[in-house]
Amino acid sequence: MTAEKQAPVGIEAKHVTEVFNGKNVLNDLNFSVQPKEIFVLMGPSGTGKSVLLRLIAGLDEATSGSICINGTSLKEVKRKNKYVLGLVFQAGALFNSLSIFDNLALYFREHRLCSEKEITKRTERMLEMLNLKGIENQIPSSLSGGMKKRVALARGLLMEPDVLLFDEPTSELDLLTASSIIELIGSVNRRLGITTVIASHDILLAKSIGHHIGVLQNGTLEEIYTPETLLHSDNAFIKNFLNPTINLDHPQFPSFLL
Ligand SMILES: Nc1ncnc2c1ncn2[C@@H]1O[C@H](COP(=O)(O)OP(=O)(O)OP(=O)(O)O)[C@@H](O)[C@H]1O
Ligand SMILES: [Mg+2]
Repeated sequence: MTAEKQAPVGIEAKHVTEVFNGKNVLNDLNFSVQPKEIFVLMGPSGTGKSVLLRLIAGLDEATSGSICINGTSLKEVKRKNKYVLGLVFQAGALFNSLSIFDNLALYFREHRLCSEKEITKRTERMLEMLNLKGIENQIPSSLSGGMKKRVALARGLLMEPDVLLFDEPTSELDLLTASSIIELIGSVNRRLGITTVIASHDILLAKSIGHHIGVLQNGTLEEIYTPETLLHSDNAFIKNFLNPTINLDHPQFPSFLL
């Protein structure tokens, strides 16, 4: 139905620069994501995680530099429809005017990929796998935050992607629900071996399921970490990012309240 399944996918970013309004948000960025691994993209708010994810998804084009999927440039990948890149957005991006079932069926219907009978079969199977059975006729706004994230993951997985991309999959969730989403993404990766890139602030996520972790700073990734090397890093920026100190005498946003 979708593009023919290829070998597990590796991603390579070479000299990627993205400029907005004269400012380099990403600056000569170089890194690789190995096939089947979970790569976590961290960094403080506004450092360009979502921008980079959109570039990897092929939704935007970098100002300069290239992103390749198994050695083929993204432009070519898109032109040939060679790989499916499944993006699970920051806010879920589900349509409130559609039922959960119709949200999940949308991709198949838009691309005329299979019959309604087959869509129902696949959707039901996915809802069961993600423990979401029985919510088919509800609309997204009636679901909890954790359920919405699971529906968004279901929609991503139904595309049978070669690469799964997540933007902040645990944001706005309590710790317990966040950990269930982390387990879900980790076990999906173990079971299906889909190369996965996750933009996230969540250190629990990075250390529990990240195989490699990059921390964006000044538009670049100085070093690629494993959970162990990240947690034991001597780099002052990393230390402060993982364990910020609160200082009311010298606040980061000074004076307007004083
Ligand atoms: N389409 C755009 N036009 C102009 N500037 C943009 C655009 N998209 C993003 N930016 C800018 O790029 C920078 C990085 O944004 P981005 O959304 O990638 O940050 P982020 O690291 O994902 O932050 P957060 O953790 O809050 O989600 C920000 O300064 C943002 O304003
Ligand atoms: Mg973001």
